[in-house]
Amino acid sequence: MRIEAVTIFPEFFDVLDISLLGKARENNVIDFKAVNLRDYTHDKHKTVDDSPYGGGAGMLMKPEPWGEALDELLNPDGSTVLIIPSPAGELFKQATAQELAKEEHLVFACGRYEGIDHRVFEWAKDKAKLRLVSLGDYVLNGGEVAALAMIEAIARLIPGVIGNAESLVEESHSEGLLEYPSYTKPAEWRGLEVPEVLRSGNHAEIAKWRKEQSLERTKQVRPDLLD
Ligand code: ADE
Repeated sequence: MRIEAVTIFPEFFDVLDISLLGKARENNVIDFKAVNLRDYTHDKHKTVDDSPYGGGAGMLMKPEPWGEALDELLNPDGSTVLIIPSPAGELFKQATAQELAKEEHLVFACGRYEGIDHRVFEWAKDKAKLRLVSLGDYVLNGGEVAALAMIEAIARLIPGVIGNAESLVEESHSEGLLEYPSYTKPAEWRGLEVPEVLRSGNHAEIAKWRKEQSLERTKQVRPDLLD
C-alpha cells in the first residue's frame, strides 16, 4: 500500500520508522512518505496560511499549495482515497480501518491553524475518494496526530505487517465488542490469582468465559457498542 501524508511538520511522522510499521516499510509492504506542503509554495517565506474571508479568529490554509501537492500525489484515475483528519468528520472506527486497509493508495491531508480553505474539498471530491475523518469528539492542534493513529490502525491490518495474524482476530472491536481480560505467568501475583478457568485447559470453557467477559466489559464501559 502507498501512503502519503501532506503536512507542514513532516517530522511528526518520523515515528513510523519504529517497530512493526518500520519493519513493514523496510520490507516494502508499506510505501510511506511525509510530504512537506511548504515545498509547494513559491514565495520567500513559504507561506501556507492567510486570514479568513468574513473575519474571525485565526488563520486558514491557502488552497494553492494544497492544489499543487494534490495534483502531484493523487492518482489520475481517481482511485486515491484522500483522508482529511478533522473533528468535523465521520468517526474513525475499526470498520473504517478495515475498509481503508483494502485500498491501494491513501493520502492524508493534515491541516493546521483553523483548517483548510473549503474549495480544496470541493475540488478534490471529483478527483479522489474524499473522506473527512475524526478521531473522536475532541480537538487536536492539527491533523498529524490523528493521521498517525489512523495510519497505525490501518497498516496493522495489511497482511504481512503483524507477524501473528491471529492476534487481529480476538482484539477489541474486531467483532464489535471490547476484548476480554488477559493474563500471563505467574499464576499468582501480589495475592491476585489468574482465573481458574484459564488454567483448566478446557478450551470450550475458556472460549465461553472470554465471550462472557467481553460482553460484560462492553456492557459496563461501552454500552453504546451493544445497541
Ligand atoms: N484535527 C483536529 N482535531 C481532530 C480530531 N478530533 N480528529 C481528526 N483530526 C483532527
